[in-house]
Amino acid sequence: MLARFIISYYRRAPLKIFFGFVMLILVDLAQLFVPRMGQKAIDLIASGNQDISGLFWLSLITIGLALTIGVCRFAWRMIIIGTSHFIENDFKNRLYDHLLRLDAHFFNKTKTGDIMAHMTNDMQAIRMSTAFGMISGFDAIFLFSAALIFMLKLNVRLTLFAMAPLPIISIITLFAMKLMFKYFKDVQESFSQITDKVQELISGIKIVQAFRQEDKERERFNVLSKDYVRKNIDLIKLWGTMFPLIFLFADLGAAIVLYVGGQYAILGKITPGEFVAFFVYLGIITWPMMAVGWASNIFQRGNASYKRVYEFLKEEAKIVDSKEAKYRKIEGDIELKDVSFSYQEKVILKGLSMKIKRGEYVGIIGKIGTGKSTIAKLILRILDPADGEILFDGINYRNIKIDAVRDSIGYVPQDSFLFSMSIMDNIKFGRRDATDEDVQEVVKASAFYKDLIDFRHGLDTIVGEKGVTLSGGQKQRLCIARALIRKPKILILDDALSAVDTNTEKEILHNLIEFSKGITTIVISHRISSFINADNIYVIGEEKIESSGKHAELILSSPLYREFYRIQRLEE
Ligand SMILES: Nc1ncnc2c1ncn2[C@@H]1O[C@H](COP(=O)(O)OP(=O)(O)OP(=O)(O)O)[C@@H](O)[C@H]1O
Ligand SMILES: [Mg+2]
Repeated sequence: MLARFIISYYRRAPLKIFFGFVMLILVDLAQLFVPRMGQKAIDLIASGNQDISGLFWLSLITIGLALTIGVCRFAWRMIIIGTSHFIENDFKNRLYDHLLRLDAHFFNKTKTGDIMAHMTNDMQAIRMSTAFGMISGFDAIFLFSAALIFMLKLNVRLTLFAMAPLPIISIITLFAMKLMFKYFKDVQESFSQITDKVQELISGIKIVQAFRQEDKERERFNVLSKDYVRKNIDLIKLWGTMFPLIFLFADLGAAIVLYVGGQYAILGKITPGEFVAFFVYLGIITWPMMAVGWASNIFQRGNASYKRVYEFLKEEAKIVDSKEAKYRKIEGDIELKDVSFSYQEKVILKGLSMKIKRGEYVGIIGKIGTGKSTIAKLILRILDPADGEILFDGINYRNIKIDAVRDSIGYVPQDSFLFSMSIMDNIKFGRRDATDEDVQEVVKASAFYKDLIDFRHGLDTIVGEKGVTLSGGQKQRLCIARALIRKPKILILDDALSAVDTNTEKEILHNLIEFSKGITTIVISHRISSFINADNIYVIGEEKIESSGKHAELILSSPLYREFYRIQRLEE
């Protein structure tokens, strides 16, 4: 429950929160005393008394009240709204932390947009509840009661008459706000469609221009843009109806005061000052009448968001350490025994077995989409097999901590993902405590040093979104450097040389043999040239190993391998 959640936060600094609400009370009370001054002044003037000292004191008190309102309002804003931001920040960090812990199973089934919505819209709704929700809820109760007491003290009957139309204001806000949130959500969705479209255009502008699709794109954008306008107009219509309606009923109260209160004043049941003050109180009490609907909607929305976020926080990673798992140093023997894996219903690997000895250089080749990357992810424990077992140094993977496995692996992913930061930081991402000499060494081994000369800022060049765009081959080499700097026991290159020319490929492979002496090296590739010196090559067929052996053996024994070889000879 959201309420419990808010209270648990308030409990951390109860005195501060208490002080904040005291300030809120003072503002409300001071607001209610201001009309009193006006009332006294009018009665003073009406009495015909020529002494102005009374007026002087009244204006002095009014200044005091205004100052109190100003100072206290600042204080409660700082405390209550400020706290709401801290709560949001805390909660956001919890979500982020949770995201870092979740695994591929979760990310495969969850849409990015949903996660983003938790991080933005839901967080905002929760913060709104902890700030304006709490304040309007408080005003709805406290300011309403206090204003009512002030009015009742002036005249009970007149108060009852004047208040008669006001509950309708609460009902109007209750319903109008519900609609408003719905419309507002529509507007936001439409807005995010526009930003998505622009973002897509920016990344695909070359394609759009090359295919001469500008007119079509303009049309598509126009549709989205018009939709945005339409939804905004709906919102304006709603606001435009809600406020006049509210004021209509507030003014109805005023009309009653004018007619009934006017008569009371003529009859001397109330003074002219009290008659005027009544109007002002009616104006003041309109807000808490609205605040009821306001607060209830904000809380409903916050509660829904809180539930969604809570469900998300309950998601658990499936790939986790078992109780028996120990942190063991891994030397580099890997065995896959009868491993099966499927994505949902789609079987990818079935009864696949591989045996890789420490220090070996092993190749994996196979048609596209046969599950080569999946094998890499299984070894990395990014995925877990549905059946069969994986052994590291002869020990079942369940008895080894996931961190131990990952700490011993240098992984170059197929999609060469880099972060938008400097080249140096991208390399050191592999190992935070790496020295500059380590960086130099891996930059050489990955043949990235050749590219560095072209960058004016060298290793400090920022890459990616916020900096220089690297070529496919440059990205791959940088990713290799990032993997090498880990000084891993196992090195996995997933199609990591596909975008480098054959000469550079040769150079890198040559360096790797030097660099990775004693390191188990697994190279996934479509190019036979990567495997010439391999100790063993696995040819992946349908769901399992078609054959394995050294290059020369496979040429003779594997039809699939021979086919790869023939096509590549033709290409060359
Ligand atoms: N997250 C996923 N959800 C569902 N199916 C997936 C997912 N990732 C991969 N697949 C499917 O699993 C199969 C094996 O994928 P994998 O990436 O292991 O193939 P690959 O052999 O590395 O292919 P390539 O040579 O193109 O790199 C493919 O058919 C792919 O469509
Ligand atoms: Mg792949």
